[in-house]
Amino acid sequence: MRILFNKEEPEIQDCIPIHIGIIMDGNGRWAKKRGFPRKFGHKAGAKNFRKIVKHCSHVGIKYLTVYAFSTENWNRPDQEVGALMRLFEQYLKEALSDFQDEDIKVKFLGKTEKFSEEIKNLILEVEKKSQNHSGMVLNIAMNYGGKEEIVNAVRLISEKVLKNEIQVSEITEKIFSNYLYTSKQPDVDLVIRTGGEYRTSNFLIWQTAYAEYVFTDTLWPDFQIDDFDNILHIYAKRKRRFGGV
Ligand code: IPE
Ligand code: IPE
Ligand code: MG
Repeated sequence: MRILFNKEEPEIQDCIPIHIGIIMDGNGRWAKKRGFPRKFGHKAGAKNFRKIVKHCSHVGIKYLTVYAFSTENWNRPDQEVGALMRLFEQYLKEALSDFQDEDIKVKFLGKTEKFSEEIKNLILEVEKKSQNHSGMVLNIAMNYGGKEEIVNAVRLISEKVLKNEIQVSEITEKIFSNYLYTSKQPDVDLVIRTGGEYRTSNFLIWQTAYAEYVFTDTLWPDFQIDDFDNILHIYAKRKRRFGGV
């Protein structure tokens, strides 16, 4: 395991976030700047993604959720959506060995029905083959939208109410969160968004209620391990109050 912080900063060692979310934005602009089609940016982004995932696992992050494709990203031109789907397929095939080597448990957030049979099967395979891994949990948000997730949870709970399996008065925040795709996982401590936009774009809107946000202008394919470590330092210096004093 890599030594992350120096010994003069023991307090920072204690402040590593348990759950990090990353909005990996800026692939298209990265390619455009170089005069390439957008899909080249996605390819470079996918490569960078593998590197950052391994690093998160090495520094002891327990849960990492990455925003790979939103429910709104289907609105992009067919050609770009097609290129992204081909990349997902390639990534899921190639990254299986990373999950084995790093003991990473993978979960997909979002409905899979819109994906091709090939991708659906790969999703099942990756989840199954990694289900007993005890290292970092990697949530891949693919066809994910925070609003869709909440509506889905409401539907699931409503069905239970109709069957008398749960009473309306029993629905609490804790119970509700068990119906989200991140069921039984801790809320997000830190969200990193690359690419210079200062918005959440429908990412984990329930789980980030008290998350710290760090926005960086760096485009996702350029985002390095050092940038990540610097953000951990920024996070460690934040004072989280959760409404208290
Ligand atoms: C993020 O990069 C990747 C996905 C949304 C799939 P973008 O494709 O949004 O890149 P920009 O923001 O247009 O540069
Ligand atoms: C958010 O980025 C989605 C992902 C990174 C997968 P977008 O590029 O889709 O977000 P907007 O459209 O700029 O808000
Ligand atoms: Mg974008």
